Amino acid sequence: MDRDKILLTPGPLTTTLRTKLAMLKDWGSWDADFNAVTASVRSSLLSIIHGHDSHVVVPLQGSGTFSVEAAVATVVPQDGHVLVLDNGAYCKRAARLTTLMGRRCTLMPFDEAAQVSPAALADRLAQDSSITHVILIHCETGAGVLNPLQEIADVCASHGKGLLVDAMSSFAALEIDARKIRFDALVAASGKCLEGVPGMGFVFIRRAILESCAGRSQSLAMDLYDQYAYMEKTTQWRFTPPTHVVVALAEAIAQFEEEGGQPARLARYISNYNTLITGMAKLGFKPFLDPAIQAPIIVTFHAPLDSRYDFKTFYMAARERGFVLYPGKLTTVETFRVGCIGAIGPRVIEQAVQAIAGALQDMGISSATPA
Ligand SMILES: Cc1ncc(COP(=O)(O)O)c(C=O)c1O
Repeated sequence: MDRDKILLTPGPLTTTLRTKLAMLKDWGSWDADFNAVTASVRSSLLSIIHGHDSHVVVPLQGSGTFSVEAAVATVVPQDGHVLVLDNGAYCKRAARLTTLMGRRCTLMPFDEAAQVSPAALADRLAQDSSITHVILIHCETGAGVLNPLQEIADVCASHGKGLLVDAMSSFAALEIDARKIRFDALVAASGKCLEGVPGMGFVFIRRAILESCAGRSQSLAMDLYDQYAYMEKTTQWRFTPPTHVVVALAEAIAQFEEEGGQPARLARYISNYNTLITGMAKLGFKPFLDPAIQAPIIVTFHAPLDSRYDFKTFYMAARERGFVLYPGKLTTVETFRVGCIGAIGPRVIEQAVQAIAGALQDMGISSATPA
């Protein structure tokens, strides 16, 4: 196969040739042309959430986690108390970085096969007035659960608490409308459902709290207020920008808009998801989650019961056929994950299922039925 391997992962994702070609040029960070690209990307990002009136968007160099960390350091006061709604690995990561940023942090645990509960959050906020902010992971990519963003935002708003949302794997695919959902910060990144390349995150910050964020961050590089203020004043990034990532993102956003924006992207991912589930069921694979709470982003499957199965061999056999799978991230059951996102459609997913069938055959496994 002479095409790149198809990445069925939570990112980096498969990108289009057009997006890749956008990176074949050098740009100066002081150059007006490059700064116009940055401004255009920021404006497009705000349009996706209908947030021009209510929010600003601040791009930041680095992977998605850098922006989550920067959002906590910038938005939460040093004497704040953060409650992390925990139903998976990315929630635990958010809690860890919050603690490392020196903020008081409490985990509120939920089952990793279930959504977090708005009612339980309401009870907790009523009991503990010291909590100032809540962190929600919109799509918990660990298992693939879609969490109830609107309901959680409503509970936070009615209790007067700040809300930080990690929308890394959902932004641009699932609807997020800032006119309906109240949040202080929402974080995503270039290399996820916008189908750009990895290397920059971005944080939407509510205008009403923006000025109170000045001077809060204990980190220079991760201070989003400083990045925002500098960018507004000069049109430039504070420190060396990821130039190729930014121009690739601009090209990816142009294709996103041509496709029909978020509703069209979601429709394609749902079609990928349905094709995947149907094909994998024919091979005997069983998804880990109840379909009612499954986001059409990444699917966790139980590993086959057959004693000849091991993930490494399975992964290599699928890889030889041109498809990159992802290991599971659950603590108690053996699983693996298959992504539905990236610049791919249902025909590619059909090929992926064929590759998985071939991988099972190589391993001498006739049915993928789990325990
Ligand atoms: C929900 C969520 N949060 C955070 C991240 C972290 O992103 P990164 O690995 O780019 O730092 C990811 C990555 O897939 C994610 O899915």
